Parts: sequence; C-alpha cells; structure tokens
Amino acid sequence: MKTTLSVIKADIGSIGGHEKPSKAIVNRITEIIDSAKPLLISDYSIFSVGDDNVILMVHKNGVDNPSIHKLAWDAFTEGTKVAKSQGLYGAGQDMLINSFSGNVKGLGPGSCEMEFEERPNEPFLLFMCDKTNPGVFNLPFFRSFADPFHNAGFLLSTEIAKGFEFTIMDVTDVKNDRIIVLNAPQDYYDLATLLRDPETYVIESIRSRANGDIAVVVSTSRLHNIAGTYTGKDDPVALVRSQKSFPSTGEILSPWATAHFVAGDNRGSHHVPVMPVKLFSTISFFDGPAIVQAAGFCVHDGKLTEYVDLFDHPFWRTIQDKAARKFMDIREQGFFNPAMVGMNELEYTGVVEKIKVLNKKFKIRKKKKHTLIESS
Ligand code: F6R
Ligand code: MG
Ligand code: MG
Repeated sequence: MKTTLSVIKADIGSIGGHEKPSKAIVNRITEIIDSAKPLLISDYSIFSVGDDNVILMVHKNGVDNPSIHKLAWDAFTEGTKVAKSQGLYGAGQDMLINSFSGNVKGLGPGSCEMEFEERPNEPFLLFMCDKTNPGVFNLPFFRSFADPFHNAGFLLSTEIAKGFEFTIMDVTDVKNDRIIVLNAPQDYYDLATLLRDPETYVIESIRSRANGDIAVVVSTSRLHNIAGTYTGKDDPVALVRSQKSFPSTGEILSPWATAHFVAGDNRGSHHVPVMPVKLFSTISFFDGPAIVQAAGFCVHDGKLTEYVDLFDHPFWRTIQDKAARKFMDIREQGFFNPAMVGMNELEYTGVVEKIKVLNKKFKIRKKKKHTLIESS
C-alpha cells in the first residue's frame, strides 16, 4: 500500500501585522487535524513559517483526495474563526473562495503532495517559505538535481548520473495547467532558459530517471491569479525525498547557501535574498527578508519520526549574515528597480493606477522623424 504525504498551507491571520500566527490558531488547527487520526490520516506535523500555517499529513488516500483536502480546509476555517475572535490581522486572508468543492487548489491555500511506495528507510525534507513565490525553488532545485557543483552524486553514483526529469509549469496561464517536461542533463540549456524566469516558469515536480520515482513536488499556485488582485504572496512549500537515487540531504541544502534573490518581501513587491532560518521563524525588517525553513523527517509504515531542523546549525549563521548584507545592499536603492519588482509582478495596484493618471498628462512635444536604416 502506497504512502501519501500531503502538505496544505494557508495564512489565516497573524499577530502584530503579517508576522506570525497566534498560538490559539495553531492549537485549533492541531485539534481538527488530530481528530482525523487514525481513521483518515496515520500521522501529521504542524508548522508555521512567518505568518503561514503548514500542515503535513501522512495517509494512504493518494494525492488530490477530497477528504484530506476537506480536513485541511476545515482546520483553516476553524482557525479563521479563532483569528477573527482574537482580532488578528488579515484573519482568513488566504480563504479566498467561500465554498469548498473537493480540492483546495484554486481556493487560496497552497498544497503539494506525493504518493510513493515507502523505501525501507524513507528520508524526506519539507521546505516552507514566507514572503515569496513558488519560483524561489527554481534555482536551488535546478542545482541539486542537475548541477555536479552541488550534487557530487552526478560523478559518484551511477543511479544519480542517469539524471532527473523536470515538470515545469507556466504559472502565468491562469486558465490551464500548462506544463513542459524536460530531462537533465540532455535538456540542460532548455531547462536553464525557462528556470531563469521564476515568475513565469516554476518547477512543479521532479522524478528520478533511474527508476521513475517522484523526488520533488512544489506548491505552484499564484494567489493573485486566483483573486485577480493583491492577496499576499504565495509563500510556497515543497517536499523533497533524499538519499540513494535522490540527492543527499546535504546536496539538497547546498544551493541555499547562495541566499539568492527572489521576488517578495514587503508588499510582495521587492527583490530580496532568501534567508535560510530556523523552524517557526518570524518576519521582521522591511516585512522580510524572504525566509526558507526546512524540516527533515523519516516516514515508516505511515508514521513520522520527530523532525530535524535543518537550517538550525552554526553553518547557516554565516549565510544569514550574507543574506542580511545582500538585503541591506539592495534596500539602499529603495524603490528604484530592480529593488522594487517590475510592473507585472507588483502585488499592489497603486503604481499602475498612478501611471494611468500620469499617462493622460503626457504631451507629445514633437513627432519623431522615422528614418529607415536599410541594411546593405
Ligand atoms: C507581503 C506582506 C506584507 C504586506 C504589508 C502591507 O507578503 O504580507 O509585506 O504586504 O505589510 O500589508 P497590508 O496591505 O495588509 O497593510
Ligand atoms: Mg500574509
Ligand atoms: Mg505569508
């Protein structure tokens, strides 16, 4: 019988701004999820990342199961009631559609799920981000699953050397699930061509080419595509299986030492470095930085071990300092691009509306004389 890991997350209200859910919300979510054990789910773990709540569930019902999705939806609905009763900021923020119709996709909460036959030992990582979008995973996953600079397995393991299959989604297509499947290393440059634009092309999943096994799933929903206007950043999650035919846990963590620039942060409208931080971290300077947390688990017979907090290690202090330096460097130029994101990615419509007004005030001083430059 296969095991399914389901991660469903939502921002349903926060203390002190968009910083952290209250204990009462987390307790209510936990009560609801716990009541589904052992009939519907065999185990669970609950986290927060900045102002988002993340529910990890283990069960045997496969991906996109309506009962599992309803369980998470009910937990967030109950959590929203608590957030409202406490007067939390942004109560119910990600519950964009009122009625549940079988799956949280397109309703506001983010989700990623994978189903697999458990190996005798089954290590995996749960990544959780706040103040950024799902393209945050493009650079690190490309490097872990295609680049020998980060994954020594491409040289040292014949299984890993068979490469990986990437499914990439065009997240700007709001009507369709528009995807392309590319293989590393064969399609390396095509992969790079798409993944360099993380606002449009987002890694949805990755499979081993040695055995076809699922390695990675990412939550790819874009909130402003659902609501049509600003509703907060997507604050994505991802599951990654590690070891043996997959990269080692260390190879999966390695590219995060870049503290690469992503879109997000304050008003979801700035370019900032992503800082690897401890589990249950909060948000601070300039509503940022964008943060990533990672929990490592093993799952066995549907039961989770306790987790290891993978960015809670002295090594990452240096990377946090580096990210803070990069953050201050780009903040020095305030709102001048590329510190602020381009027009398409702005999460608030203020600039666009102001430009519409200003555009009407522009005057044509003189028509240009068009000169045709003919090539010889
Ligand atoms: C970004 C975020 C915050 C808010 C900002 C303004 O994802 O959550 O930076 O955009 O604090 O929030 P509102 O518009 O709710 O006052
Ligand atoms: Mg928020
Ligand atoms: Mg958030």
